[in-house]
Amino acid sequence: MDIEKELTVGRGYVVFPIENTDTFNKLRNSFVEKINISKKIGDNIDQIRKKLAKMTKAEINKTMVNLLSFNDLSEMIINSCPTLVKRLCGSELFIQRRAHTIINVPGEGQAKQWPHYELMSGISPFSYVIWAPLHDLQDQGGVYYIDQKKSYEIMKKEEEDGLVNGPTVLNLMTEQKPTLMKFGEAIIFNPFVLHGNVTFKSEFARIACNVRFQSYYKPLLQKNTDYLKYYKLV
Ligand SMILES: [Fe+2]
Repeated sequence: MDIEKELTVGRGYVVFPIENTDTFNKLRNSFVEKINISKKIGDNIDQIRKKLAKMTKAEINKTMVNLLSFNDLSEMIINSCPTLVKRLCGSELFIQRRAHTIINVPGEGQAKQWPHYELMSGISPFSYVIWAPLHDLQDQGGVYYIDQKKSYEIMKKEEEDGLVNGPTVLNLMTEQKPTLMKFGEAIIFNPFVLHGNVTFKSEFARIACNVRFQSYYKPLLQKNTDYLKYYKLV
C-alpha cells in the first residue's frame, strides 16, 4: 500500500526511509554541536545518549536550553523528506515554526506519555507529523501507535461515554510495544491516530525530533502564525 493511502484509509501511520540522508545527517550533526554536553564525550551520538540517561530531569532541561538556537530544525526535517511532503501537501506549506526535539530518559518514573492524538493540541485535521529518532532505536524507548480504525473506535466510545482520557485510553498504556527503527527511518502519521510511549529499560536515552506541517491552502483552524510559518519547497 502506498504511503498516502496508508495515511488516509489505512493504519494512519507509516515507517519510511528518509529520502535525503545528507540533510538528515546534517540535522543530527547540528543537534550534537548545539547540545554541547561535554567536550570529553565527543560527538558520538550513543555516548551523548549514555550521558543523558544518567542526568536528572533538571540537568536535561538546563541542557535543552542549548537547543534554543536550533531554528532551522523544521526546514531540515521537511527537506529530509521533500518528495513525500510535496505529494501529501504540495510545495506551499505551513510548517511548525519551531520543530521539537524530545529527549526521553530510561527508568521507572520517567517518560511515560499517556496516549493522545495530535488533534488534541489544536493542529488542523489536514496536518501530518514526521517523527524521527537521531539514532537506531532497538529498545522500547520509541513510540507506539494505535491504528486509525481502533483510534476512531476508542474516540467515539469516549464521546458516547462523555469521557476524555477515560480508562479505555489510559489502559492502552499497558503492554504496548514501541516501533523499532533504524537511524535514517522516520514515522509519518496523521493527527487522528493515538500514540504514546512507555517507560523503558536501557543504558541510552532516546533523542528524536518531530515537525507538524500542512498545505498552505487548507484551513489552519485553532493554530495561527505564532505556531506555523509559510514555507515553500523548491
Ligand atoms: Fe504526540
